[in-house]
Amino acid sequence: MEDALDAIMRIMERAFDPAYGEAWNRRQVGDSLSLRNTHFLLADRTGREPAKPEEAVGFIMSRGVVDEEELLLIAVLPEARGHGVATALLQRFTKKARARGMCRIFLEMRDGNPAEKLYLQQGFSTIGRRRNYYKSGSDGPFDAITFARMIA
Ligand SMILES: CC(C)(COP(=O)(O)OP(=O)(O)OC[C@H]1O[C@@H](n2cnc3c(N)ncnc32)[C@H](O)[C@@H]1OP(=O)(O)O)[C@@H](O)C(=O)NCCC(=O)NCCS
Repeated sequence: MEDALDAIMRIMERAFDPAYGEAWNRRQVGDSLSLRNTHFLLADRTGREPAKPEEAVGFIMSRGVVDEEELLLIAVLPEARGHGVATALLQRFTKKARARGMCRIFLEMRDGNPAEKLYLQQGFSTIGRRRNYYKSGSDGPFDAITFARMIA
């Protein structure tokens, strides 16, 4: 039977374009999840918590520091995209972060990632840009765009 780490890795391995080297490996995810300030949520095709990890098609991972939650990773299997799974994950995640007393969510995105639309729809705004932050990728380097959203 699949556990949550297996489900995250199953999705990770197919969701991220290898050209950009953004996917984490199993050890990075496992080590991160063993820390008390790191959180994850899984989603089934409806965006809800899956009955079993096998039914997960998306996940989100974050890390809380003081009163800010950093969104580390969000991914949905290619065949499940475009149906609001990531939107539902972000909404569930925001609710939980708020319940933990967090005031702000922030995240960093490679410039040009179409996920920008998702973040803007969900009330994030651009607060910064780091030039040439992502070195990998055949057509890079790319800037990192920082987004934030107040949730308190
Ligand atoms: C980004 C990602 C999680 C979005 O998942 P999703 O379930 O398809 O997102 P949603 O269906 O909730 O999309 C919300 C909106 O953003 C748009 N959008 C999100 N990701 C998009 C993409 N890759 N390409 C085009 N549009 C995208 C959707 O069209 C939708 O807009 P609409 O309401 O006008 O149709 C998914 O594309 C993914 O796993 N990408 C690879 C991993 C990645 O890059 N993660 C983000 C790192 S910063």
